[in-house]
Amino acid sequence: MSWQATILTLFPEMFPGPLGLSLAGKALGGGVWSCQTHDLRQHGLGRHRAVDDTPFGGGAGMVIRADVVDAALSAIQAPEGAPRVFLTPRGRPLRQQDVSRYAQGPGVVLLCGRFEGVDERVLEARGIEQVSIGDYVLSGGETAALVLLDACVRLLPGVMGSDESGVEESFSDGLLEYPHYTRPASWDGRDVPEVLLSGNHAAIAAWRQKQAEEITRERRPDLWSAWLDRRERNEAAAG
Ligand code: ADE
Repeated sequence: MSWQATILTLFPEMFPGPLGLSLAGKALGGGVWSCQTHDLRQHGLGRHRAVDDTPFGGGAGMVIRADVVDAALSAIQAPEGAPRVFLTPRGRPLRQQDVSRYAQGPGVVLLCGRFEGVDERVLEARGIEQVSIGDYVLSGGETAALVLLDACVRLLPGVMGSDESGVEESFSDGLLEYPHYTRPASWDGRDVPEVLLSGNHAAIAAWRQKQAEEITRERRPDLWSAWLDRRERNEAAAG
């Protein structure tokens, strides 16, 4: 059984989009995963197939109706146990561990909103997780859904070129990755760090670890303190 992405959206033409190309596209063509879109408009009400209405309590923008989302959820055929995810800047931040959990399951159902949001009741009643891809506001959930899918699909068995490139990468150990260099060894007056040319694998590993730690401390104090806490706990557990 292939990993199945089911997407509820007002813009089904946005999928698979860039995920129809490159490694993800090859895996899509090869049946490693599938991408099924479902147009929310099909479940809209009245002559205009309205999917949204004005917010109770007033305020700007429109809210997608609970009954419309519910009808769409009833109409799709998603694998049993596939998590339901609403992409919203109000959600909890998407992390590599979430991506890994999604990729290990049968697939995901993604709800993409436009306008101000979706009626909170259907999110609660139908067990829909709320997830954000970052602290900025996109014009809709579709591009966020593409980001989430890209992150999942590359983890599916057989999608990535070499298995190792999935192990040694940013976030897998809680640190940002060390910097990379290739030929020429000297470019524009800048030399590659000498240790990388030494052939001393232990020294190279130590240098890379130190770089990863320094870069994380500087760029991501949040990840750095979490990493320090984890190291402290591990050391205490080891005695
Ligand atoms: N929809 C609009 N902005 C978003 C964000 N930052 N993450 C997820 N979905 C969104």
